[in-house]
Amino acid sequence: MQKFVIVGGNRLKGTIRASGSKNATLPILAASILNAGKSTIYEAPQLRDVSVMKDVLSYLGAKIVSDRNTIEIDTSTIQSVEITEELMRRMRASNLVLGSLLGRFGRVKISYPGGCQIGSRPMNLHLKGLQALGATIQEKFGYITAEAEKLRGTDIHLDLPSVGATENIIMTAILAEGVTVIRNAAKEPEIVDLQNFLNKMGARVKGAGTDTIKIEGVRPRELIPAVHTVIPDRIEAGTHMVAAAITGGEVTVTNVIPEHLEPLIAKLREAGVSITVGDDYVKVQGNGRVKAVDIKTMHYPGFPTDMQPQMMALLSLAEGTSVVSETIFENRFKHVAELRRMGADIKVEGQSAIIKGVEKLSGAYLEASDLRAGASLVLAALAAEDGTVLENVHHIDRGYERLEVKYNSLGARMIRVHN
Ligand code: EPZ
Repeated sequence: MQKFVIVGGNRLKGTIRASGSKNATLPILAASILNAGKSTIYEAPQLRDVSVMKDVLSYLGAKIVSDRNTIEIDTSTIQSVEITEELMRRMRASNLVLGSLLGRFGRVKISYPGGCQIGSRPMNLHLKGLQALGATIQEKFGYITAEAEKLRGTDIHLDLPSVGATENIIMTAILAEGVTVIRNAAKEPEIVDLQNFLNKMGARVKGAGTDTIKIEGVRPRELIPAVHTVIPDRIEAGTHMVAAAITGGEVTVTNVIPEHLEPLIAKLREAGVSITVGDDYVKVQGNGRVKAVDIKTMHYPGFPTDMQPQMMALLSLAEGTSVVSETIFENRFKHVAELRRMGADIKVEGQSAIIKGVEKLSGAYLEASDLRAGASLVLAALAAEDGTVLENVHHIDRGYERLEVKYNSLGARMIRVHN
């Protein structure tokens, strides 16, 4: 297991570039199964989660060549449709192959992805969508099997705008006969990127980014290899923006799409952080202690749940009392206990955390429990006056490319220790 040793107190200054989006790359890799040919993906981030998805596709028989941030994937050689428990346990987002395997082969069997630290992560909406398109679903011995003689387009209304369910239903509908309309669809930018990739492949998807997405089924022979550059990672960029604010530094984050950062920019400005927005960069200047603000996580374009832990670190040092309500996941406050060990004054009441800002945080011995909680603790450690040891950084490597290299280039003092 690896850990970070961080000595805080430096103001981060300089420029760093956001990598490609993890949550766009994962569904796009899964979607490449549909065209039974070669696809090339540029700006794919070099992350643990991306390598797990590549392992899943190789396990199914795909041929993958990757060089830094470019992935070439030939799915014409796939001959299995089953994902083992071992693979599923490594990353629950492997469930994104459900739709493309079912769409192309008429059958798929995956081990039920367990919950994780932030919630039970059910898949009922995914399965309801696949059933509506004509699949028979069987859930037995911890496996989900979906089979369909023929997939037929239909209207599907999602009970809630689930990102993964929207993506799996889109991919299942690509090769179905007729038109599928998804209502109350998730509107995240990563779904727009998936639509753009699919349409380059010859699919006919419209409406991603709105709550109504229309897919016109096509025949397999109409699908051709696609070349695509994934969008920048808005959550990675947002994390760096908070790093600038919490250390009182001055950081420019390049390779961003500002529109995707709007809810965060608005909230940081409300807290008194000054932010200059360019066409593909944001410049963040910490102005001393931020002001307390209230946050309620919502589906896009509301405030993103994936930025909630990072904002909580910032608000631990704010002037005044903030209330953070987590409405998306039922258990996404694992970072609270660790922030308290650093001297933060946070009380959790149900789905809300009441944060009374303190003057300073002190370093401590901490454990990362999941990806964004880990990121939050890195930010708190950068602001703390002294040293912090943060265990289980493999969680952080799932979503951030060599975070210590990026932050040290801005003046942080962070080293990765291999136990
Ligand atoms: C995606 O997860 C992201 N992951 C998550 O990012 C992100 O936090 C989440 O969307 C919300 O924005 C990827 O894109 C790979 P959901 P997903 O289905 O698709 C409930 C990160 O840090 N739900 O929109 O799993 C579910 O329990 C990760 O990068 C059902 O009830 O999220 C949750 O409460 C963490 N039934 C809510 O919906 C279902 O069938 C939102 O989940 C599906 C979901």
